[in-house]
Amino acid sequence: MTEQKKDLMEKITSLCKRRGFVYQSSEIYGGLAGVYDFGPRGVELLNNLKRAWWNANVYQKENYYGLDAGMFKHPRVWDASGHTSGFSDPLAECKKCNNRIRVDKVLNAIGISADEKMDEKKLNELFDENRDKISCEKCGAKDFSKVKKFNLLVKSNLGDFTSEGLEPVYLPGEACQGIYLDYKNIVDSMHPKIPFGIAQIGKAFRNEISPRNFLFRVREMEQADTQLFIRPNENKDAYERIKGEQWNWLLSLGVKKDNLQWHQHENLVFYAKDAWDIEYKFPWGFDELMGIHDRSDYDLTQHMKFSGVDLNYMDQETAKKYIPWILETSMGMGRLSLVVLLDAYDEDELGGEKRVVLRLSPKIAPVKVAVFPLLKNKPQLVEKAGEIYKMLKKEFAGWVEFDDNGNIGKRYRRQDEIGTPFCVTVDFDTIEKDAGVTVRDRDTGEQTRMPISELVEFIKSKI
Ligand code: GAP
Repeated sequence: MTEQKKDLMEKITSLCKRRGFVYQSSEIYGGLAGVYDFGPRGVELLNNLKRAWWNANVYQKENYYGLDAGMFKHPRVWDASGHTSGFSDPLAECKKCNNRIRVDKVLNAIGISADEKMDEKKLNELFDENRDKISCEKCGAKDFSKVKKFNLLVKSNLGDFTSEGLEPVYLPGEACQGIYLDYKNIVDSMHPKIPFGIAQIGKAFRNEISPRNFLFRVREMEQADTQLFIRPNENKDAYERIKGEQWNWLLSLGVKKDNLQWHQHENLVFYAKDAWDIEYKFPWGFDELMGIHDRSDYDLTQHMKFSGVDLNYMDQETAKKYIPWILETSMGMGRLSLVVLLDAYDEDELGGEKRVVLRLSPKIAPVKVAVFPLLKNKPQLVEKAGEIYKMLKKEFAGWVEFDDNGNIGKRYRRQDEIGTPFCVTVDFDTIEKDAGVTVRDRDTGEQTRMPISELVEFIKSKI
């Protein structure tokens, strides 16, 4: 990453902390790597993204069903899914300071094509060929252990009363397994006609060897998944269609088209028949934002084999019984939050003053409108602004803020920095001439006067 781009990540991380978007978990204890907390503004942004996603992927779709499966699952689930044997990343350890590196990513950084799906032998060969070019980022040594595959599943002792932890229950390595396990319940209770979809936003945990780049690679994440159940071999058109839908949905959030690209996997993960990523242009280069996978009948076949329960679908239209194939879209909501923040971040000059501005789409901005009295020490202005604030809060709840701290310019700057699209100011004309309020546009800085009675409809029309 160039200094300028590293600088952008630092600016975003610092803005997120300063303005209540995202904090490092357990910060007062020195932090816990790979885990983040969403603060008051962050949780609004995240919830707006989740709501927009749910709307597009459940409510606006025909024949899609929502789900919220429990996180813990029977331990055999992860044997059936292939995660206990095949869900691993390559690790090497610095012999001098014990720092652990993720080998495929370190090789990528020096221009060598490698990924976590390669076997240990191949990864060791590539690593050995390039050892002289790789030094430990912590101590600078070039003395690493051999490459070993490290399983990413996180274990818990839920319901395991053997003191040695002999019967671990895993935290979900991918949220979608909950969908496969409830597929039969949904078929039996909702009687969906194929093709049908199941959508879920659920937590997943991975023992990532080197969590990094803020929200990009974390150990605790939330995945938004859709699984489309289709007739065998009817995957081609449907796959293209869901690829297009997800791409367009990202654009509808305001993400810039030039910052997105497609990437097809050459080396496939154990469950996939075909896999494409939508990549975003992060400060370190294009990298995965969302995975779109053709999983064929892999998952249901595996679960049928391991559970002994018949997972065939009885197709009333064709009078045939079969295991449906599955097309998946999967995206980390934290990673998406980082993408919209990076994409919206801007520094410009307005009215001769430099400012930082988040040009978030009003649809996802954590605060839609801020209300100010022009002067803090004029009770009639403060009172009127308070009334308008309450009126807007009834309509927009947590999306409204009141601010009378510092001069008006400073208040605008603060709201610009968190991406608030509109600021409403009560001034003397509001009180003395019944002339409404000023509404200031974040992007242009332009102010227009508007009757108070039109405010709610105006904001609604923008979000
Ligand atoms: N069910 C399929 C699945 O889990 P994946 O490609 O491993 O596939 C899907 O993950 C998405 O989840 C990724 O595209 C990314 O957005 C997000 N994701 C995966 N690992 C992540 C991590 N360590 N930190 C943040 N997001 C992650």
